[in-house]
Formats: sequence, C-alpha cells, structure tokens
Amino acid sequence: MGNKDIKKTSKERVFSGAQPTGNMHLGNYLGALKNWVRLQDDYECLYCVVDLHAITTFQDPKTLRANTREAAAAYIASGIDPKTSILFNQSAVPAHAELAWIFNCVARLGWLNRMTQFKDKAGKHKERASVGLYVYPTLMASDILLYKADRVPVGEDQKQHLELTRDIAQKFNNDFGVDFFPMVEPVILKEGARVMSLKDGTQKMSKSDASELSRINLTDDADTIAKKIRKARTDSEPIPGDVESLAARPEALNLITIYGALADKPRADVCTEFAGKGFADFKAALSDLAVAKLSPITAEMARLRADPGYVDGILKDGAGRANALASPILKDIHKIIGLT
Ligand code: AMP
Ligand code: TRP
Repeated sequence: MGNKDIKKTSKERVFSGAQPTGNMHLGNYLGALKNWVRLQDDYECLYCVVDLHAITTFQDPKTLRANTREAAAAYIASGIDPKTSILFNQSAVPAHAELAWIFNCVARLGWLNRMTQFKDKAGKHKERASVGLYVYPTLMASDILLYKADRVPVGEDQKQHLELTRDIAQKFNNDFGVDFFPMVEPVILKEGARVMSLKDGTQKMSKSDASELSRINLTDDADTIAKKIRKARTDSEPIPGDVESLAARPEALNLITIYGALADKPRADVCTEFAGKGFADFKAALSDLAVAKLSPITAEMARLRADPGYVDGILKDGAGRANALASPILKDIHKIIGLT
C-alpha cells in the first residue's frame, strides 16, 4: 500500500464540546449530541467538556465539578461510546490553554470585536466582563486546531466562532509561511439545529433560562417531560399543511421542529401528518414521542449519576489519549514559532 492509500483510508477528525454550566437539555441533544453520535462511525471523534470556557463567567467550584461530571454523563447516555471516541474535560489537557495564548497573539482585536456571542453575554456592562469571556473564541479555536480537526459539529449559534477559527488558522499559516492548520468545516443540522424555549418561541432553549418549564432536561423523568410539553406555550390555531404558514407562529413552529428532529422527519412531513389537528392532539403525540426517544437516555443518566467513579475513569482515560494526540502537534507549533 502506497502513502496515498494510507492517507485515503485514515479517518478525518471531528472535535466538539459543550460547557458544563448547568443541565444538558433537549436543545443540546438535538442541536449537538445527536449529531455527535452519528459521526462516531465515520470519523475519529474527540468530545470535550469545556470547563475552561465555563469559568469565563463565575462558577461555584463545587457546582462546576458536579456539572463537568454531569455533562460527561450526558454525552455517554446520549450514545457517545468512550471506547471509540475520546471523551475528556478541557482543563485535563493543559495544551488547550497554552495554544489559546499563542492564538491570542495571532487573532486581531478587530476580529474579536465583531463576535456577537460576546456582545450578547457581556450585555450593557462590557467593562465588567472577564477578559476570558472576550477571548473565549481564541480558546475555542485552540480546542479545534490543537488536534487539527477537520470537522466541527455545532448548533447554528457557533458558526461565527468557526469562521474566526478559520481566520486564525489562515493567518497562522500565512504569517509563518506554512501549510500547517486545516480549514475546519462546520457540520450544522438543518432540522432541529435551533431548539427554542417552550415558553417563548423567540428565545433559544438554554441552560441559563430561569424557568424550568422552558426546557426539557436530559435528567427529566417521563412525567416531567409530559408535563412540560403539556404546559408549552402554543396558540389556538390548528396545524397547517405546510411549514411556511408557521412563519409568524414561533411556538407552534418550535414544537413541529422538535417533533421532526426527534422522529428524523422533515418538518414539512410533520405538518402534512398533523394538518388540521389542534395542539391538544399534537402535544399528546409529541409527548409520547419525546418520552420514547428520551427515556433510554434519562435512565442511563440516572445509572451514571449513581456511579461517579465510572464517569471519572472515562474522563481520565480520554484525557490521556487526547494528550497523546496534542503533544506532538504542540511541539511542531513551538518549532514553527521559534519557541525553544
Ligand atoms: P452550550 O449549551 O451553549 O454549551 O452548547 C453546547 C452545544 O449545544 C453547542 O453545539 C450549541 O450550539 C448546542 N445548543 C445549545 N443550545 C441549543 C439550542 N437551544 N438548540 C440547538 N442547539 C443548541
Ligand atoms: N463554544 C461552544 C458552545 O458554547 C462550546 C465549545 C468550546 C466548542 N470549544 C469548542 C464547540 C470547540 C465546538 C468546538 O457551544
């Protein structure tokens, strides 16, 4: 077998991560985790719990430790196989923070000033935001490029950060006259890429929403899931036969989106199936579907919660494997830059 053949059969690399800042929810599952699971067979995957990103806003240490374990449990319960994929937490591989510093020296202030997530998270008092929150995207670029990952599955909200990652890779390559970092490709799901709050169809379903009724957590039992769907905001109109007619009905559109994503069906098909029905009927069907799809995950979450040593062991093993991949790449970076 020639070199070319070896390259052709070697798998492309995937990297993704989520912050351990609270309960993992249906938006995380449909927008991220479900996609991650699907990629495991075709790619070499690294899935990271990004605890260094979490501390860009204050985290209580005990809660952070618990949430890190909980996020790892959600990955496993959703179907990430820790033998096939590398599952680890970011701070266990110090090279992430080191490469982020190097990228702070590559990225330009003007680029970071354009990041909408910083503007959203810092709000009106941006002088009081941590410097870490401002350079959050350079740490994210380092997560990805430390492994020279080719593909990054994320929700739509992360697209701008991936564009910045490409800019950093390109500038690094140009500045040092090398062809070192690849241009990463985002992998974004069409259906279900953006799951909205069950209480306000214009807001993203989020870990930080004060209302528990706004989201379905991956730790919710069947009764809680059913109750939250029953209480979800809707309108009194029946379901139309086409998706376009839902444009001005964000809550209705969101429930159709969730149904489609859970059933792996286009939204148009869901509309055809339920055309003319009211939301009482539709919610009953959605509730059955959500419980059927989520109950194996919530059951596994409960099992993993009772066995923290098992989850910690997986994270430790993953960190060792991630470190082994990162070390030679970081060494090459040092050499390119002139660090001795
Ligand atoms: P976060 O919860 O912000 O740490 O996000 C972890 C992953 O879940 C990222 O890939 C996000 O894009 C995705 N995600 C978070 N919230 C949602 C949502 N409401 N709908 C779809 N994807 C989401
Ligand atoms: N910023 C991402 C989010 O909030 C999480 C993240 C950190 C990430 N590093 C990453 C996602 C690298 C993909 C690749 O959702």
